[in-house]
Amino acid sequence: MSVAAEPLSDRLVYSRDELLASGAYAAPLVAGGVRCHGGFDDDGRYRSPRTVHRAPAISAWQTRLAHEGAALIEIPRASMPPQYPNVEQATLLLERGVRDPIVRALTIISIVEGFGAIIRDVKVPDLAALVVEPVAGTALAHLREGLFEAHARDESGWRDEGGHKQMWEAARDLALEKPKIPGDVLMRMMGRQAARRRPDRPFPQLDETLERMLALMAQVLVVEVFAEGTFEWGMRLLSNPNVSAAPEAAAAMVGHIRADERPHVEYLRTALSELRARTLRTVGGGTIAGRTVVDALLHRILRELTTARPREQREDLRENLVAAMQGAASPATLLEEFDALDTPWTPPARTGFEPAAA
Ligand SMILES: [Fe+2]
Ligand SMILES: [Fe+2]
Repeated sequence: MSVAAEPLSDRLVYSRDELLASGAYAAPLVAGGVRCHGGFDDDGRYRSPRTVHRAPAISAWQTRLAHEGAALIEIPRASMPPQYPNVEQATLLLERGVRDPIVRALTIISIVEGFGAIIRDVKVPDLAALVVEPVAGTALAHLREGLFEAHARDESGWRDEGGHKQMWEAARDLALEKPKIPGDVLMRMMGRQAARRRPDRPFPQLDETLERMLALMAQVLVVEVFAEGTFEWGMRLLSNPNVSAAPEAAAAMVGHIRADERPHVEYLRTALSELRARTLRTVGGGTIAGRTVVDALLHRILRELTTARPREQREDLRENLVAAMQGAASPATLLEEFDALDTPWTPPARTGFEPAAA
C-alpha cells in the first residue's frame, strides 16, 4: 500500500497521532546511506512525511478561516533577501576549485535545519483561557497536539530516520563528493547565537508564555518563507553538472526538502492568522486585538531579518573567502570577479505589517 493523494476534508479536529502519521510508502528515501523520512509512491513521486492527515487538516483550517472572512497572512516575496553568495558567485568559486566556502555554506544550512527541532520545546499556554473567542477546531488548538512535534521531526529527524539536517548533508556530499567539513562551523554559529541578546517584550501586558510563543512563530514563519530562496539556490547550484558530481540526485534531494517545508509555512501562517482574527486577554484583565500583536511581531522580525540575514551570510562567507582563494590561480583577480557578480539588494521600505496600518 502506498500513500494516496491527500483527500479533501472538512474535519477540523485531529489527534496528535494522526498529525504525526506518515502512512506507508512504496519505497523509502535513503540519503547518503541514511534512511530518511518521507518516501515514494507507486509512481515514484516523493511524498512528504507526516502529511496523511496534517495536509488536509491545514487546508480545512484555512478553508474555515476564509469562511469566517479572515485574511491568511502572506509574507511578501519581495522582502526575501538574496542568497549570498548567489548562484553565479558560488559557481565561480567551485569552478576555480575554491570549495571550502561552499562546503561551509551548505553545512551551515544543514545545521540551521537541525536547530529547527527547538520548536518542540516552545511552551504553549492555555489558549482557551487567553483568547476571547473559541479556538476549538483551529490550527492554534493543535500546536501542541502534533503540529510543533511534526515540524521538529521534519527538521532534525526522528529516531533512526533522518530529517532535513541529514538530507542537506546528503545533497552536499553527493554534489561535492563527501568534502572535508571544516571543524569550526558549529562553534562559530554558537558564538553568534550567544552574542544575540534575548529580545525585549513589546507586549508586556500579555501573558509572557503567549507572547514568547507568538514571537517565535512569527520568526520561524519568516525564516521558512525566506528558505524558499535557499532551496532555489541549492537546486540551481547543485544541479549544474560543471560543479556538481551528482546534478540530478543532489538537486532532487533539495527538492524533497523544499516540498516538506510547505506544511511548515502553511500551519504557521494559518495559526497566526487565526489569532490575528481574534482578541487576546491581557494579564490586567483587559483585551487587545490579535491583529495588533501579530502584525507588530511580524513587522519587527521582518525588519530584523531583512537586514541581519544578508549581513550574517556575508560575514560567514567573507571570513574565510580570501584565505580560501589563496590556493586558486590569481586570487586577487578571482576576488574582483566574485565581487562583480554580487546581487545588489536593499530591503523594501515597508514590511506590509506596519503598526499604523492596524
Ligand atoms: Fe526544514
Ligand atoms: Fe521547515
